[in-house]
Amino acid sequence: CGIVGAVSGTDITNILINGLERLEYRGYDSAGVYITDGEHDTLIKKAGKIVNLKEAINDRQLGNSGIGHTRWATHGQPSEANAHPHFSQDHRFYLVHNGVLENTESLKETYLSNVSFASTTDTEVIVQLVDYFVCHEKLAVFVAFEKVLSLIKGSYAIALMDRQQPEQIMIAKNKSPLLIGVGDKANFIASDAAAVLEQTHTFMAIADGERGVITKDKIQLFDAQDQKVNHKTYEVKLDSSDLSLGAYDSYMSKEIDEQPAVLRRILKHYFPDQQLKINNQLLQQIAASDRIYIVAAGTSWHAGLVGKQLFEDLTDIPVEVQLASEFGYHLPKLSAKPFFIFLSQSGETADSRQVLVELKKLHKLTLTITNVENSTLAREADYSLALKAGPEIAVASTKAYIAQIAVEAILAKAVGENLHLTTAQSFDVQQQLSLAASAIQTLIDKKDLIEQLAATYFDNQESAFFIGRGNGYYLALEASLKLKEVSYVHSEGFAAGELKHGTIALIEQDTPVIGFVVEEKTAELTRGNIQEAASRGANTLIISTEKLQQKQDQLVIADLDEHILPIAAIVPAQLLAYYVAKKRGNNVDQPRNLAKSVTVE
Ligand code: G6P
Repeated sequence: CGIVGAVSGTDITNILINGLERLEYRGYDSAGVYITDGEHDTLIKKAGKIVNLKEAINDRQLGNSGIGHTRWATHGQPSEANAHPHFSQDHRFYLVHNGVLENTESLKETYLSNVSFASTTDTEVIVQLVDYFVCHEKLAVFVAFEKVLSLIKGSYAIALMDRQQPEQIMIAKNKSPLLIGVGDKANFIASDAAAVLEQTHTFMAIADGERGVITKDKIQLFDAQDQKVNHKTYEVKLDSSDLSLGAYDSYMSKEIDEQPAVLRRILKHYFPDQQLKINNQLLQQIAASDRIYIVAAGTSWHAGLVGKQLFEDLTDIPVEVQLASEFGYHLPKLSAKPFFIFLSQSGETADSRQVLVELKKLHKLTLTITNVENSTLAREADYSLALKAGPEIAVASTKAYIAQIAVEAILAKAVGENLHLTTAQSFDVQQQLSLAASAIQTLIDKKDLIEQLAATYFDNQESAFFIGRGNGYYLALEASLKLKEVSYVHSEGFAAGELKHGTIALIEQDTPVIGFVVEEKTAELTRGNIQEAASRGANTLIISTEKLQQKQDQLVIADLDEHILPIAAIVPAQLLAYYVAKKRGNNVDQPRNLAKSVTVE
């Protein structure tokens, strides 16, 4: 979910709407605003995308302070009633919330048995409780708010407004992201800096457990013990024009096309003056570790899987790649000197952050590799490295995935060199990434062919399989995820050799089976597995490399070092997913049920 709020001397209606549009990637099943001009206040909520909310507002200027929310449903189905802001029974308090509460049922029983609820969300309990303590226990509003914070359990970023004090927003944060944007005679709150970048580039982070009040010219923050806290501000340099679509029909297609440029930007960033430059202390600490744990979710986890071989081959340090949602709650017996790398496009994924919090309690060394500098994971890890992919807006990740592999490769080389390993010294990562950029460009230039393949293989098909071995298997996982995310075609990524042990039973006449033949030592075996599927009626499509190419292969990638090859080999699968989805009339940037940044566990 995404939160935005503003208190200003002038009208803020458009600021909230633009902010919500910038945050739509965090969820888009309903949206709403509460805005007040001091005398009149307006609550508008709509199911569906922000555009519905925008239409309902119809260019009106509703006031100088307000809060807005775009939702990704957790508790309670997507509907207008469940959209935020939620309000107290007497319509005095309005509240938006991102996160999940764990103890609302018992709070309802204890305090709110006489309240009739307007929604089925956990959030409404917070606002009804504030009202309860103000009305029944006669507490001052902020004291009531703090009391509620002491009672609720779970994750939250909250913004609360009291119609009797229209010039201020009360805020609180625990686990879910929330920032303060510091303006000139105006202050803002947002889940992500991008929401209010047109208003300010100066931000202040809020730590877990903190709460406070913002007005147009004042920011007051307190910790959980009610002590005043002062945080330094920082600048976010992002240019808001990076966020525009230009001539493209979708961000997904724009971001696929940007990939060669992303690789060049990464090279420029990590090789200023042609010299590899990464914090030396970080390199030494990874070099001194006895095991690297890569922790991530979704596409980032797939990029982590590709990273395993890179780190193991270039640094000689064993690597485990772990799913964040599993790892934190089932920590295996850790090695004596572990080093943890968090991979996260957004730097906000709650599953990953929960692991980071656990590891910090154990005083473990951590690095976050993320596309959002200053994101929660970047701030809280011991070290952070930037992906430099530029803002990724489409929900399905493309350029961030290749950037993650590229930065892993650069880091692995740097650590290996630090250890004086010849494999690392002779690995020309600069050259390989430049070659990868050209290889991707060649594939992008073959878009028409891929569009045709998408139609040939996927028209009338509702199930598909991607298979490969080694990095080919990891590519299969990511390729399959891309297809599922945007086209809604059921798909599985499988280890090629494993298909015959059960799953091959699902192959029917014309089922698309896409094979990645990208690893020399298993190329023939993989071709055998693809053949096994073909013999059972599958319509097979082979993605191979120049060196391993055979005449029946439909898509061939330029030869690259096998560690780097996934960076280019994923591109045909990204385009395939894009074209299948487009042909089906889907919204490729905002697929159903998903959110780009999932800030609940
Ligand atoms: C969400 C997105 C995925 C993404 C995953 C991890 O589920 O829809 O595309 O891969 O989160 O996100 P992160 O920002 O941590 O890479």
